[in-house]
Amino acid sequence: MISSAPDSAPSPRGPSIARPRLVVPPSPSAPRERTPPLALVIFGASGDLTSRKILPALANLADRGRLAEEFTVIGVARTDWSDEEFRRAALKDVPYAGEGWRALVERFRYVAGEYASSETFDRLKEVLAEADQRYGTSGNRVFYLATIPSVFAMIAEALAKEGCNVPGEGGEFARLVVEKPYGRDLASALELDAAVHHAFDEDQIFRIDHYMGKETVQNVLALRFANAIFEPIWNRRYVEQVQITVAESIGVEHRGGFYETAGALRDIVQNHVMQVLALTLMEPPTGMDATHVRDEKVKLLKAVDIPTPDEAVDKSVRAQYVAGVVDQVAVPGYREEEGVAPDSTTETYVALRLRVENWRWAGVPVYVRTGKRLAARVTEVALQFHSVPFLAFEGELARQLRPNTLVLRIQPNEGISLHFGAKVPGEEFRVQSVAMDFLYDTAFRDNRESDGYPRLLHDAMCGDATLFIRTDEVEQAWRIVDPYLEAWSEPGGGLHFYPAGTWGPHIADLLLERSGDSWRVPEL
Ligand code: NDP
Ligand code: BG6
Repeated sequence: MISSAPDSAPSPRGPSIARPRLVVPPSPSAPRERTPPLALVIFGASGDLTSRKILPALANLADRGRLAEEFTVIGVARTDWSDEEFRRAALKDVPYAGEGWRALVERFRYVAGEYASSETFDRLKEVLAEADQRYGTSGNRVFYLATIPSVFAMIAEALAKEGCNVPGEGGEFARLVVEKPYGRDLASALELDAAVHHAFDEDQIFRIDHYMGKETVQNVLALRFANAIFEPIWNRRYVEQVQITVAESIGVEHRGGFYETAGALRDIVQNHVMQVLALTLMEPPTGMDATHVRDEKVKLLKAVDIPTPDEAVDKSVRAQYVAGVVDQVAVPGYREEEGVAPDSTTETYVALRLRVENWRWAGVPVYVRTGKRLAARVTEVALQFHSVPFLAFEGELARQLRPNTLVLRIQPNEGISLHFGAKVPGEEFRVQSVAMDFLYDTAFRDNRESDGYPRLLHDAMCGDATLFIRTDEVEQAWRIVDPYLEAWSEPGGGLHFYPAGTWGPHIADLLLERSGDSWRVPEL
């Protein structure tokens, strides 16, 4: 609750005037840490990401008392909204949140304008100065690029030109949060990085990958580095293969136009899969801070084999969904989706066979797959261990015995399962695989699956870059995927098809069968 509601265009006031304060609702179970005073500026405030992810994340933080009292939000976009229209849109997007959220929305400001126009940034500076005066945001700014990627560089440069790349008067920081995709290949990522670095220093830049904000992705670090029992077996001597699955049952929904310019490799593999892979396979960092964790991730990514374009064809499968049935509902094929060309060759499924060429992982295949309109929504990492060197049980008695597997379940039903052999009750000495499950929901009763945005937004506002992607990480991830893009750029690009509601094209099975392996069927 704010003691005096701001009007649409508050006039600057002198510092002696008492500032309205947000009344933050008590939240006994929530950590007390709040952001420092700041103004959050969202470019692309009229867009889908703002509405579905950023505003709900802000509502979450507001209601849990994690925002400073001296905090406000300024939306920027071309849509011709007033402050009031932006506020109404925000309350429509997040109608269910509590008092903290409603009080925050009353402070929202909106600047309408083109990014190529200096008037937009002049107006933004006025509104920022008003926010400092009225709400005590203290010259601290976080600029969030949540708009279409083709204008990222333009906005960063305009901010620098207008002097917004440094804190306002009396402020301590000016930061830039950049959404994905960060480039569409190595060359464009380097170009974008050069433009962004021309405007902001690396330590001001927070490149978002929302997977890094997921509890269970961070739990990979806890599992590996807070326990002594896993480290000795976390290597090629014990691990036979690694499988990373990011399966979605949804299609491209209303984002067909965007997806046509991306495809599964750019949309999921270059960022989310590479991050999960790096955390799972990297060496132990000497500290859990931004420098140490990211140094180790980069080292790991540098060890991932970069194929020639010919090898890339051989080690990959790309495919697109055709009409099928998902959750007992008939769904159209990708080419029938809104915004998608009827002859589109964009892939909605990718499977890769990767190698990590270092002492720890040499010879261990790392299989990754991702797809839309697959049989189920599941993201998991599975480490399959070598079989026992000699099986003393006769074939029939051990028919249902599978290799030991440790499954890190990222979503849904977050948790960890260890699959091992156990005796089946009865006279015979029959063994079969069973699972020992740790479920987040059971162990931590207040666990709520999060899309990662509240955590990441809070970290960026607090200046903690540990879960954000550093320039050398993004560059290396593009180096890994670029050969596949190149290999697939031929007409048709080796595109296969799979019916919606299945686990992908049959040819993806062959990618593993060559080595005697097969895809895991995730437990649902
Ligand atoms: P939208 O397509 O909703 O576009 C965001 C805003 O960009 C629009 O509201 C529009 O605002 C503005 N815009 C559109 N065209 C132009 C243009 N030619 N020039 C300037 N501005 C333009 O995108 P999303 O919100 O979905 O995505 C924003 C960013 O977030 C992207 O980088 C995307 O990859 C990323 N992202 C999105 C996710 C999602 O679920 N939506 C998930 C993960 C990342 P206006 O016309 O008012 O200026
Ligand atoms: C986004 C992709 O980065 O991640 C989307 O652009 C995808 O295509 C989404 O659906 C998946 O995120 P989550 O959190 O639902 O696994």
